[in-house]
Amino acid sequence: MKTMLSGIKPSGQMTLGNYIGALKNFVAYQDEYEMMVFIANLHCITVPQDPATLKKNLKDAVALYLACGLDPNKATIFLQSDVLEHAQMGWIVNCHTYLGELNRQTQYKDKVAKGETSLSAGLYTYPALMAADILIYDADYVPVGEDQKQHVELCRDLAERFNNRYGEVFKVPEPVIPKVGARILSLSDPTKKMSKSEDNDKGCITLLEDLKSVRKKIMSAVTDSVGIIQYDPVNQPGLANLLQIHSSLSHEPIESIVARFEGKGYGELKKEVADVVCAELEKIQAAYTEIINSGTMEAILAEGAQKASRIARKKLNKVQRKVGIEIFRK
Ligand code: AMP
Ligand code: TRP
Repeated sequence: MKTMLSGIKPSGQMTLGNYIGALKNFVAYQDEYEMMVFIANLHCITVPQDPATLKKNLKDAVALYLACGLDPNKATIFLQSDVLEHAQMGWIVNCHTYLGELNRQTQYKDKVAKGETSLSAGLYTYPALMAADILIYDADYVPVGEDQKQHVELCRDLAERFNNRYGEVFKVPEPVIPKVGARILSLSDPTKKMSKSEDNDKGCITLLEDLKSVRKKIMSAVTDSVGIIQYDPVNQPGLANLLQIHSSLSHEPIESIVARFEGKGYGELKKEVADVVCAELEKIQAAYTEIINSGTMEAILAEGAQKASRIARKKLNKVQRKVGIEIFRK
């Protein structure tokens, strides 16, 4: 069975974008692949965090993984920092990553371009740790949203670099990007992606949000003045975003939704999108409440970390041997 691996960095509350672009797909793939999913808590602290809020967000993220349908009997679910090998492999990968490559990563570049100061070294080298996360499990596939594609591509380059330098060390992974919903846009500014940095903003829906507020945000989503319901992401990005959200949750093809709404107004479409989103979130929120109070999460994470560690330790030993930093064979 091929291995699929992905992580989510809950540096805020999980969003509808996370769900559609990533989480929902992990669930869909868990029967088909050896699935490894983790909470990237080491990545969270690449930007300043309030410890108590971070802890809550991490716990919520685990509960939401499960609430969205990840099954610990099928998928290995763990906390990144519980598997110490990630940090160790991260260092080795760091030492094989060029500054030029890190300079080109948009996540860092954008922050510099915006004039943000006090950026941490961890933020800069974050893609090297992410590559280590993937390579340590010999993942074949990495399901992510559009914004992470560049990081997976760097990971591929790094895998090839190791293989050229030391002989076969790593599998070269492939990103898996959903056809619909890889980049859910902000509801208030459809030129930007929906992101949790806008948590309190009208543009972002979080998975645990009050459904009344969700409905309100969708009903007041920014669209355009064209006035025709059609799928045109370039000229009508707000509308296209609503159609993508609908289609990825309802599984109804975009053309079919467009055809049903021919001659109708944006308000009617928004109402149906709100119905679809609220129905999905209602299910998730009910499951979340049950899980967060069930006392089962600790054991699930412990078991996941144990299973992941066994694989990671073996790989790390091999890499240390190949790189020549080991003295006696383990
Ligand atoms: P992050 O929250 O940055 O850790 O992202 C976790 C996963 O969700 C990654 O695979 C992202 O690509 C995906 N993701 C985050 N925001 C969006 C969005 N607005 N649309 C689609 N996918 C997203
Ligand atoms: N960097 C990813 C994000 O911000 C999270 C992540 C960390 C990840 N390690 C990973 C995703 C490995 C896929 C594979 O969304």
